[in-house]
Amino acid sequence: MQQIHLETKNLSFTYPDGTEALKNVNIQIKKGEKIAIMGPNGAGKSTLFSHFNGLSEPTSGHVEIDGEKIVFTREELLKVRQKVGIVFQDPNDQLFAPTVKEDVAFGPMNLGLDYDEVNARIKEALEMVGMSGFEDKTPHHLSGGQQKRVAIAGIIAM
Ligand SMILES: Nc1ncnc2c1ncn2[C@@H]1O[C@H](COP(=O)(O)OP(=O)(O)OP(=O)(O)O)[C@@H](O)[C@H]1O
Ligand SMILES: [Mg+2]
Repeated sequence: MQQIHLETKNLSFTYPDGTEALKNVNIQIKKGEKIAIMGPNGAGKSTLFSHFNGLSEPTSGHVEIDGEKIVFTREELLKVRQKVGIVFQDPNDQLFAPTVKEDVAFGPMNLGLDYDEVNARIKEALEMVGMSGFEDKTPHHLSGGQQKRVAIAGIIAM
């Protein structure tokens, strides 16, 4: 899997209703580093993550991936989203296909990969999250934790 260096510089974000969710956040996540961000409900964790692949545009400050600022054009965002995947808090916001297999296949298929490569990625991603054997099951018939695993597999497959 591709590894990146991610930094935020004086990142601030205010929602349209005036909620100041992020205020001058400076973090540095080095290549290969695994980190956890903890904070109480409403602290701004999800808002922060939504900036990591350009789902949200900072009110001020910016995010850098491998030393390059995220640029908010269609082509640049497409590139960023192949490097940074986000698993949503609620799997229902992410899973939509009739089967687990099709759900995990969606991202790689959109990248225009061939059939064999897509299949190999599905297999590897489901193995990594411990969900091999669930390929033909409907995501909505999985437990909450299993749904989360499949959502993670979809991102890994990208
Ligand atoms: N779409 C929105 N519009 C306005 N305010 C929002 C919106 N989404 C979140 N907020 C507010 O922004 C702040 C940060 O929310 P965020 O969802 O980032 O918190 P969180 O740390 O992920 O919380 P949790 O642990 O509950 O997931 C909260 O005060 C929340 O009420
Ligand atoms: Mg959250």
